[in-house]
Amino acid sequence: MSEILRIENVRKYFGRFAAVDDISIGLKEGGIYLLVGPNGCGKSTLTNCISGLFHPEEGHIYYRDEDITQEEMYKISRRGLVRTFQIASPFLRLTTLENMLVALPDNAGENLFKSLAKPTWIDSEMSAVRRASELLRVLGLKHVWNKPANTLSGGELKLLEIGRTLMSGAETILLDEPVGSIDPKLCHQIFNHVLKLRDELGITFLVIEHRLEVAAQYADHVFAMDRGKLVVEGTAEEVFEDPRVIEAYLGE
Ligand SMILES: Nc1ncnc2c1ncn2[C@@H]1O[C@H](COP(=O)(O)OP(=O)(O)OP(=O)(O)O)[C@@H](O)[C@H]1O
Ligand SMILES: [Mg+2]
Repeated sequence: MSEILRIENVRKYFGRFAAVDDISIGLKEGGIYLLVGPNGCGKSTLTNCISGLFHPEEGHIYYRDEDITQEEMYKISRRGLVRTFQIASPFLRLTTLENMLVALPDNAGENLFKSLAKPTWIDSEMSAVRRASELLRVLGLKHVWNKPANTLSGGELKLLEIGRTLMSGAETILLDEPVGSIDPKLCHQIFNHVLKLRDELGITFLVIEHRLEVAAQYADHVFAMDRGKLVVEGTAEEVFEDPRVIEAYLGE
């Protein structure tokens, strides 16, 4: 498997403080990667550098072997590297399916609604609906396709958010604290769908999670950060037994 995303010696400063301090990591296509570490260790800052919200002062970020270090966020997401929060929250009065359709890239979504009456658009509309239905199937949301988003559960809304990201063309998804305050049963439901998306569609995930225990069992590979640096990487077991990781959490 080739590396889809490569981060080399990245440093991001806020003033003189390096929130991300010389990080180098690589992600292979179709892997589920977990980025963990105590509060304030730089997880979100690193993710923001990858998605293009911030630009690092030092180092390089490559996506499919192209240097995206200084590229604008919208261009990076067009490449298929997307952070979920870049997708606007669901429109609560629209149905699940409609929410998927309006997440189409560029202004295709807008045109879709404008052009419902135009026969020339029917083909693309049909293929958009097919794509949305297929994604809803993989996400286990098919039974709520016609329900307004405001009737979905917290877990279903998270899955819809991931679905909309995929609808926008994402191939690599950055999930910052996807399970938040969601209860453990729903966490497992979400991560089981993450596995399915990896297995059926080959999607690559970088999941940022503060709580060690939540996503560990689903990750192929774990990166642990502390105070801006990569402390250790490896399988979940290797990382969570590492004294440096234990200390980082205890010293929090
Ligand atoms: N825009 C900013 N300006 C100045 N300092 C910032 C900014 N964003 C983050 N920081 C600082 O950089 C450090 C890393 O923050 P970051 O949000 O990346 O941590 P995190 O690992 O995501 O934490 P959490 O688990 O709480 O989400 C922190 O010390 C934080 O205060
Ligand atoms: Mg964060």
